[in-house]
Amino acid sequence: MEAIGVLMTYPTSSYLEQQLSTRFNLFRLWNISHKHQFFKDNAASIQAVVPSTQLGSGADRELIDSLPALEIVSSFSVGLDKVDLEYCKEKGIRVTNTPDVLTDDVADLAIGLILATLRRICESDRYVRGGMWMNNDFKLTVKFSGKRVGILGLGRIGTAIAKRAESFNCSISYHSRSQKPESNYKYFHSVVDLASNCEILVVACALTEETRHIINREVIDALGPKGVLINIGRGPHIDEPELVSALVEGRLAGAGLDVFEHEPQVPEELFGLDNVVMVPHVGSNTVETEKAMADLVVRNLEAHFFKKPLLTPVV
Ligand code: DGY
Repeated sequence: MEAIGVLMTYPTSSYLEQQLSTRFNLFRLWNISHKHQFFKDNAASIQAVVPSTQLGSGADRELIDSLPALEIVSSFSVGLDKVDLEYCKEKGIRVTNTPDVLTDDVADLAIGLILATLRRICESDRYVRGGMWMNNDFKLTVKFSGKRVGILGLGRIGTAIAKRAESFNCSISYHSRSQKPESNYKYFHSVVDLASNCEILVVACALTEETRHIINREVIDALGPKGVLINIGRGPHIDEPELVSALVEGRLAGAGLDVFEHEPQVPEELFGLDNVVMVPHVGSNTVETEKAMADLVVRNLEAHFFKKPLLTPVV
């Protein structure tokens, strides 16, 4: 299959790069300011794209239109908000993603962010490193066990977070597009109702036009000054300026954020706040899961080019 051209649009994983380059003719487009010349020279040889939705351009209409031989988009992510699924469908381009293999890691990180935010773990680390222990004035923190946890989006990842939170004796409620008959958790018909009835709200849904800015001022105020917001979904789920002012004004107790609206940019006001824990979109970034995701990307491509059923087809 060395003759098949595969384009990576961002250097997300050197393991993935190595796996692709031993099987395919791998093209890398790291510097998008060179894209016109790059497409002029190589577009006709590229039959597959491997985008990442963490950073980089994804697979939008412009990229798809630049690649006349494109047959498949095999995304190194479960979230496909940066892939134009409708356009792929229209053009008969297959799309795959990497579900399941990252569920545990993302759910683990959500719990990590809850604990780090409530127990002020990062702030206490800075306290010790700053030589302040002798002052003996570190503030009391907030207990996690037994809290009311609301989950926005009870898919694979939301369910895995709920199970983990249950083991902390938390009560679980959720909102999603529709009620899940298989779930015993309390369902709320609106996000505002969910936020009014929980102490920790975790965003774990997919980003679509309906869920963009679903966390707005009304939801934040419903969560209230003792509430904590956790986002392991996508940055644009939250109206970021509203979140910033709620944190600055004390209308929200804290936030734990893996994702941001304009990654890798982070609102500057957040840097000065101790009630926010921020990590750089690393929900799935473990050694084990990077390998599992990369293997799935490669196996989907092999399946496609050997004319076998795709492992995780989306389109
Ligand atoms: C995903 O796979 O969608 C995660 O956010 C990592 O990009």
